[in-house]
Amino acid sequence: MAEELKISENVTKEQKYKDLLPQIEGLISGERDLIANMANVASAIHMATDYLWIGFYLVKEDELVLGPFQGPIACTRIQKGKGVCGTAWATKETLIIPNVAIFPGHIACSADSKSEIVVPGIKNGEVRFILDVDSTELNELDKIDAHFFERVVALL
Ligand code: SME
Repeated sequence: MAEELKISENVTKEQKYKDLLPQIEGLISGERDLIANMANVASAIHMATDYLWIGFYLVKEDELVLGPFQGPIACTRIQKGKGVCGTAWATKETLIIPNVAIFPGHIACSADSKSEIVVPGIKNGEVRFILDVDSTELNELDKIDAHFFERVVALL
């Protein structure tokens, strides 16, 4: 496992993510515990970006329960179909929300969150967890983020 991340400065977001992905792969490849890997992934993304909140919710019985994250304290349980996270669980699709204020049923864990992306982690057709990223800026999360975060989720 690498001891430190090399975070590319003054490059496009696409290039930064391109440089980061193999490092994340290296970070988690020697460990098979999901929670340990989620914790390091959350830390690596937090270190490499300015996003407000990055973390995981795990499907436990009929709810999403808060898992490893970096950022402000957050809601601990989310019902299926509720908020952005519960909707991504129900639809099994990545959701990019440019303005959380106009997403029906958005759950505001932090008033500072303005845009959000949620990527479901799917194994054997079932959502096992979701990755959630929040930004303090409107329209900050886009298809480049979706592509990167979907690849990260696929590593777990
Ligand atoms: N905004 C999310 C809740 C989780 S927090 O953002 C960390 C939602 O609407 O599901």
